[in-house]
Amino acid sequence: MEGTITNFIYLICISLFIIGLKKLSHPDSARTGNLLAAAGMIGALLVTLITPLPVGDNNYGVIAGGIVIGSIIGLVAAKRIKMTAMPEMVSLFNGLGGACAMLLAFVEFYNHPPEATLLSGQIATTFFALFIGSISFTGSLVAYGKLDGFLRDSLVPPAPKVINVLLLLVILFLSIFTMTRPELNFTYVIVILVLSLIYGITFVTPIGGGDMPVVISLLNSFTGLGAALAGLIYGNQVMVVGGVLVGASGTILTILMCQAMNRSLMNVIIGGFSASGGGTAQSGEQVAKEATFVDTAIMLKYAQKVIVVPGYGMAVAQAQHTVHDLEKATEEEGVSFKYAIHPVAGRMPGHMNVLLAEADVPYPKLLDLDDANREFPSTDVVLVIGANDVVNPAAKTDQSSPIYGMPILDVEQAQNVIVLKRSMNPGYAGIQNQLFFGDNTRMLFGDAKSSLSKLIEELNNV
Ligand code: TAP
Repeated sequence: MEGTITNFIYLICISLFIIGLKKLSHPDSARTGNLLAAAGMIGALLVTLITPLPVGDNNYGVIAGGIVIGSIIGLVAAKRIKMTAMPEMVSLFNGLGGACAMLLAFVEFYNHPPEATLLSGQIATTFFALFIGSISFTGSLVAYGKLDGFLRDSLVPPAPKVINVLLLLVILFLSIFTMTRPELNFTYVIVILVLSLIYGITFVTPIGGGDMPVVISLLNSFTGLGAALAGLIYGNQVMVVGGVLVGASGTILTILMCQAMNRSLMNVIIGGFSASGGGTAQSGEQVAKEATFVDTAIMLKYAQKVIVVPGYGMAVAQAQHTVHDLEKATEEEGVSFKYAIHPVAGRMPGHMNVLLAEADVPYPKLLDLDDANREFPSTDVVLVIGANDVVNPAAKTDQSSPIYGMPILDVEQAQNVIVLKRSMNPGYAGIQNQLFFGDNTRMLFGDAKSSLSKLIEELNNV
């Protein structure tokens, strides 16, 4: 009876996860979705905690301590984090999820009765959870370091592909060897754990630059898989389903990111990425033309159609509210004002959508890459606000460019392109942008937020 009630409550929690995930797919319902999924998680935790533990394993004091300390750290971190540092935080928290799966598997081996058989699906699952959890843990820490900037992309071990294949083979061999012994040799488990932790580092280290979003969502799906495997070890349905949901959504996101960058997953993982590599558009003799605030305001006032391309710089400047003010000011002049959203603009999936939703920009004004590219030829003014790589034509023309093949926003097709940024510095991929020297491009230098405020001021004066 007790088990039936527990399972029934788990079913409700699982339903909350699924409804929450569904609601996350639209900005209007995302907040509710998040709350529903969180309610499901709290319910699952409570039921798991009140389900009686086997006699002698009653560690409620330790569990309560862990919950209190973890909640305080999570709360403070979430409150303090800047929006631009969100990917780092996601990476770090993801790594902790992986560490949990790793520790659960490790403890299972530690408690393994000597007489129990090793050649079983349960033990194979435990090895897999140990391996996947370890990769998510150290891999996410490396990803965190790269996003934060204290680990440089140039720090790559020699012959990383050879090292990775060798590590994989040794881990696989040792796991099978351990399972076919009559008794568990715990030293082998420790060696497998250490090698898996190293593999997480050597797996992520060679990847960098524009491929980081793909790796982060891949690690996210690994963590989900790790949690699902740990759920299988403990026969806990809500953990299995929760893990599978994270794993599946992470995998779907990974595939979508690869499509957005026109790269296969294999290419991302095996090919690596030279963040500061070749393909720099020669800026040598070329001089970019500057725009003035007055000219740009006049251009906006008499335009029929304006499209904004937001990028990472808009997030840095926190200019989303000011862009929305400019949108309202130009619309009063009868201008059609839309936003072109590149799938990897900014530093995390949906970064621009989140910022613009926060500023109450109506969702129908957001164009995806294909729709925007259809609209650019009939657009009078494109305002590129703190975006760089996502509008770099080298992706279409320069085969030696590290971003070659990534679909980009064809802003150069518009009548006029105004680029709002502070300098001629490159973006995330570290490469120059030929767009800035185009005949119809003008640079409006300055912090995006203050430039936009000045534009609104000038627009009111024109
Ligand atoms: P970026 O190519 O990174 O360019 C951003 C530009 O913003 C910079 O050139 C910078 O130039 C400018 N900027 C910075 N602060 C500014 C400020 N306060 N005011 C005005 N401009 C400012 O951005 P993007 O076009 O959005 O491309 C995103 C890149 O990040 C891609 O390479 C993508 O692959 C990578 N990435 C994406 C993700 C996800 S999931 N979205 C995750 C990791 C990496 P100045 O310094 O001259 O101002």
